[in-house]
Amino acid sequence: MHDLFRKLLQLPPVASTHGAKVDDLIILVHYLMVALFVGWGIFFIYTLYRFNKRRHPKADYHGVRSHASSWLEGAVAAIEAVLLVLFAVPMWAKHVDTFPDASQSLQIDVIAQQFAWNVLYPGADGKIGKRDMKLISTENPWGIDPADPNSKDDFAPLINEIHVPVNKDVIIYVTSKDVIHSFKIIAMRVTQDAIPGLRIPTHFKATTPGVYQINCAQLCGTGHSGMAAGRLYVDTQENYDKWFAEKAKTAANAAPATNAPAATTPVSGAAPAKP
Ligand code: CUA
Repeated sequence: MHDLFRKLLQLPPVASTHGAKVDDLIILVHYLMVALFVGWGIFFIYTLYRFNKRRHPKADYHGVRSHASSWLEGAVAAIEAVLLVLFAVPMWAKHVDTFPDASQSLQIDVIAQQFAWNVLYPGADGKIGKRDMKLISTENPWGIDPADPNSKDDFAPLINEIHVPVNKDVIIYVTSKDVIHSFKIIAMRVTQDAIPGLRIPTHFKATTPGVYQINCAQLCGTGHSGMAAGRLYVDTQENYDKWFAEKAKTAANAAPATNAPAATTPVSGAAPAKP
């Protein structure tokens, strides 16, 4: 039954450890939807028969006196409460709110802007240095604090491209430079709003190497759909290490981690992106 529903709903492929649990919940909700559809459909046909003109040539001022449908409504509400309290809330607590150990995870900053994803990597130390709005300038668009030793080897920013190793916990800190965006990777079953002024973590563990689309799930301007150009590369540990070493080396040879922001053309009417 479960697998039949999975096929019927054409759920997109899952490539993260918690993704199947999210799908299970979607399927449970659809069980209820099907039951409601069939139930109310039967009720509708019954009323057509029960209250037709032949049986009731004259309209009845009082109408229905039975409370059966109220009880039914109550039962539906009770089932919805069960879904919410016994399934949705525990699932969210276990798989979304419970974060992996940060020190054992790959930590990445994603800074959304109109209309691209800037991606900031920690260097070999695995720690992203402090950033502060007050330090933002033309030369330092991410407000990276040069006094923080953790920021020395950070490399920034890659644009629209996130690389992670397979079977490794990843924590992504999502923020925005301008308006509200939403960082969404369907294959990972991850969605997190990107809100200016907030740095909000989200996490996943990829299970299958491949290239996955990153979408923006909040209408953020005329170039909104262009943010679907984001790509998540899930590599084998070996390939990831190779990629990382190369990028870190290039970054070390270039200027400090204060590279230029994504070169996106501002769309007419949009205010120039001000971090
Ligand atoms: Cu960014 Cu929609």
